[in-house]
Amino acid sequence: MSDFVNEFWNWYVIITVLVSIFACALLLWVQSKSKFNAGKTCGHVWDETLEEYNNPMPKWWSWMFYITIVFSLAYLVLYPGLGRFQGIFGWSSAGQHQKEVEQVDAAVKPLFDKYLKMDVKAVAADTEAMEMGRRLYLTYCMQCHGADAKGSKGFPNLTDKDWLYGGEPEQIVETIANGRQGMMPPYGGNEEAVGGASGAREVAHYVRSLSGLTHDSLLAGKGKEKFANACAACHGADGTGMQALGAPNLTDKVWLYGSSETTIVETITKGRQNKMPAWQEFLGEGKVHVLSAYVFGLSAAGDKK
Ligand code: HEC
Ligand code: HEC
Repeated sequence: MSDFVNEFWNWYVIITVLVSIFACALLLWVQSKSKFNAGKTCGHVWDETLEEYNNPMPKWWSWMFYITIVFSLAYLVLYPGLGRFQGIFGWSSAGQHQKEVEQVDAAVKPLFDKYLKMDVKAVAADTEAMEMGRRLYLTYCMQCHGADAKGSKGFPNLTDKDWLYGGEPEQIVETIANGRQGMMPPYGGNEEAVGGASGAREVAHYVRSLSGLTHDSLLAGKGKEKFANACAACHGADGTGMQALGAPNLTDKVWLYGSSETTIVETITKGRQNKMPAWQEFLGEGKVHVLSAYVFGLSAAGDKK
C-alpha cells in the first residue's frame, strides 16, 4: 500500500533521491580528477600559524564514499526508498508488524484453543484465564464499560445480575461476538401513541411507579393504559422487559439512562439508540470466549456482595 496521494510525489521522491546520489558521485569523480600541488599550501593563513595544504583526499577516504554510494544504490534496489517502488525483497514495516502479530497469535493460540474447548463457566473458574480476560477487558472494553465494569449512563454495568440481553453464557457470547443494537423508538412526534408531552409525563409517572419510586398516582393511572398500548409490546405487560429485544426491565432499580422524571420523559420523546460493537471478527473466537467467561465471572462475583 502506498501513501502517495498522486503520481507527482512518487516521481518527486524518486528523482530527488537519484539526482542526489549521482551528484555525490559526480562530485567525488571531479575531485579525483582535480590537480593538486601536493606538499604546497593554498596560501591561506589563519591565526598567523595555521596554513592549509593543497593535498588530495586520502584514497581510503574516497573509497569509503564510493562504497557508500554503491551501498545506497543496492539498498534502493532491495528495499523500499524510491517512491512507490517496494524493492525486490518486498519488505515493509507494516508487513513486518503483521508477521510479528501472527507469531504472537500462533504462540498464544494453543492456550485459547484449550479454553475454547472448556465451557464458559469452567473458564470463569480458571484463575489464569480470568487474568487473561481481565487484561483483554482493560484493553478493549474499559473505555465504554469503565475500569471497574460498572458502566455509566448509556453503558450497562457488567458486574450486576441485571441483563439487557441475558446473562447466560450463550447470551453473553452472542452479545460480545456479534454486538447488539438497542433501539427504543421516539414517541415525541407520535401524538396518538402517548399523547404528546403531557402524555409522556403520565407514562413516565407510571414507569416510576413500577419500581416503587415516588410518583403522582393520578398521572400514573392515566399512564398505565398508554403503557399497555404503546410500550408493553417490548417492555412486557408487567414492565419486566424482554431480553430478545434488549428492552430493559423497568420494574427494578437498575437504570441505563436514569430514573428521574425528566430522563424518562426524554427517553420516551426522543427514543434511545445504543450500540455494543461486535468483536468476533477483530478478536477471534478464542478471545471472545475468554472475555465472555470474564464478564460471566464479574457478575457472579457481584452477586456474592
Ligand atoms: C464503544 C463502546 C463499547 C465498547 C468498546 C464495548 N461495549 Fe459492551 N456495550 C456497549 C453498549 C452501548 C451496550 C448496551 C447496548 C444496548 O443498550 O443495546 C453494551 C452492552 C454490552 C453487554 C450486554 C450487557 C447486558 O446487560 O446484556 C455486554 C456483556 C458487553 N457490552 C460486554 C462488552 C465487552 C466484553 C467488551 C469488550 C470486548 C465491550 N462490551 C466493549 C458499548 C461498548
Ligand atoms: C420497539 C420496542 C420498544 C418500545 C415499543 C418501547 N421501548 Fe422503551 N426501550 C426499548 C429498548 C430496546 C430500550 C433500551 C435502549 C438501549 O439499549 O439504549 C428501551 C429503553 C427504555 C427506557 C430506559 C430504561 C433505563 O434503564 O434507563 C425507558 C424508561 C423506556 N424504554 C420506556 C418506554 C416507554 C414508556 C415506552 C412506551 C411509550 C417504551 N419504552 C416503548 C424498546 C422499546
